[in-house]
Amino acid sequence: MLRDYTTVITGAGSGIGAAVAWRFSRENARVVVSDIDEGAAIGVARAIDPSGVRAIGLRCDVTQEQDCARLVTEAERFFSAPIDVFLANAGVSFAGNFLEAAPATLRRVVEVNVTGSILSAQAALRSLVRSPRASLIFTSSISGITARAKRSVYNASKHALTGLVKALALEFGPVGVRVNAIAPGATDTPFLRAHLAKVTADVDQAVSDIVSGMPLGRLISPDEFADAAVFLVSPASRSITGHTLLLDGGATAGRM
Ligand SMILES: NC(=O)c1ccc[n+]([C@@H]2O[C@H](COP(=O)([O-])OP(=O)(O)OC[C@H]3O[C@@H](n4cnc5c(N)ncnc54)[C@H](O)[C@@H]3O)[C@@H](O)[C@H]2O)c1
Repeated sequence: MLRDYTTVITGAGSGIGAAVAWRFSRENARVVVSDIDEGAAIGVARAIDPSGVRAIGLRCDVTQEQDCARLVTEAERFFSAPIDVFLANAGVSFAGNFLEAAPATLRRVVEVNVTGSILSAQAALRSLVRSPRASLIFTSSISGITARAKRSVYNASKHALTGLVKALALEFGPVGVRVNAIAPGATDTPFLRAHLAKVTADVDQAVSDIVSGMPLGRLISPDEFADAAVFLVSPASRSITGHTLLLDGGATAGRM
């Protein structure tokens, strides 16, 4: 469905981003796998395409303006085309007592999740505006729609993306770029367990508590996120922009 689309994903060395990179590649897209962890990005790209022709791995720390600019330039140069799809996915978690949090920790969550999303999107949009099928997607979270105690700055960072998506959809709709977000609930990646370990010693119990509040009774899988991403960048969703698509197994529908 994405034949010869040029796609770029941040934070794709692991979890959701890696799953999307695999799926885009299976849909015949060309894929740039980027991550602050260069080895992880290159590892995913090589696993997807050992020949290195249709998938490349690049280091990009989304908090660094120069990294974001270089990512876009390298993607355009390697595939000799503007970017068609950019997924601003890199993110870090915060869980814990607000008053006990070190200011540097609070600052880092905002820097990666908000500033990093903004800087990478700005760099990408300079290329996306030249694509006839352009889509920008952000990885938000259920935490961008609703809040939870002891998730303060994570909630704040993901709520910021909900506003960013709307504003960018208004600004870039007239030049043909669609801007949306996907907001997953608890998704089965290393991030989830590390996130929960910050506030509980019994991670398995915390996972089963979360699942018990999900009407579908299971975690979201990274592949399900990838399904939603393919839909949101394909012509099947051509009239959708400014939207945050919840992928939460019904968790925000109400109390079980
Ligand atoms: N797993 C969940 O339950 C869940 C739920 C909702 C939203 N999310 C969001 O999904 C996204 C991906 O999370 P995941 O679960 O795949 O986690 P993950 O930890 O498996 O992957 C995140 C990747 O981002 C990279 N990264 C971190 N800081 C970066 C930076 N400054 N620049 C570039 N890359 C950076 C990490 O190296 C890692 O490879 C995040 O934005 C997260 O907030 C995750």
